[in-house]
Amino acid sequence: MSIEAPPENFSARIRKASWAKHQGVADDTPAERGILGALLDGELHLDDYAAWHAQQYFVYEALDSAVEALAGDPVLGRFAVPGLSRLPGFDADLRLLVGADWRSAVTPLPATQSYVDRVRAVGRTWPAGLVAHQYTRYLGDMSGGQAFRAAANDLYGFADGPGVRFYVFDGLGDLTEWKAGYRRLLDEAPWGPDEQERVIDEVLAAYDFNGAVLTELAATMRRSV
Ligand code: HEM
Repeated sequence: MSIEAPPENFSARIRKASWAKHQGVADDTPAERGILGALLDGELHLDDYAAWHAQQYFVYEALDSAVEALAGDPVLGRFAVPGLSRLPGFDADLRLLVGADWRSAVTPLPATQSYVDRVRAVGRTWPAGLVAHQYTRYLGDMSGGQAFRAAANDLYGFADGPGVRFYVFDGLGDLTEWKAGYRRLLDEAPWGPDEQERVIDEVLAAYDFNGAVLTELAATMRRSV
């Protein structure tokens, strides 16, 4: 008699299938250091931090409004967690980083616009695909993003106030536990094998969109603080 290994959770499969992409986006080589590496090294110019923050705002404007629209969905409404939206944080941050008129002062890069278009399209037509984007950004912000928060606090003196509010998740409790709860939501979502594969593909696409935005930002980045 052979004992079969228990099937792997969906969330674990997502992570395994996307980790190589994660490393591709997360790893800056010293020779080609981008925004993330420069911030973690304490050498990112504040103007570049502001430019990156503004690009992330456009993505969250699309993501959070589409997720909010899911709230009444009998199946996927569980993913529309109250208080999760990053938009109030962006307003506080960009007021400081760009100015009170930040909304008219910032524009999306072409790569950001493509990302936003994709988030909006799945938001309208395919809620499971929207969850793929929510997963990629939110679990990222609660993981590596917390290292960016600490680095930005150290470098610019934000002390968890405006400038870095986007990364501060008040009211969600311990983030490691929260992420575990989110992974359970993924595991319990009523998707068959084909739909799960589509969701995994959308997570891979989400990493590519993030990589493209970071590459475009790096092209105009200053080389010193
Ligand atoms: C230097 C940059 C980055 C570092 C150092 C970093 C670091 C990490 C670490 C340590 C984890 C594991 C956390 C855990 O097991 O709970 C993680 C998870 C994650 N990161 Fe990143 N990350 C970076 C960039 C990114 C980017 C740019 C994205 C995508 C936009 C991203 C998306 C994710 C996601 C979705 C997870 C959760 C994976 C899972 O457990 O299901 N990360 N990151």
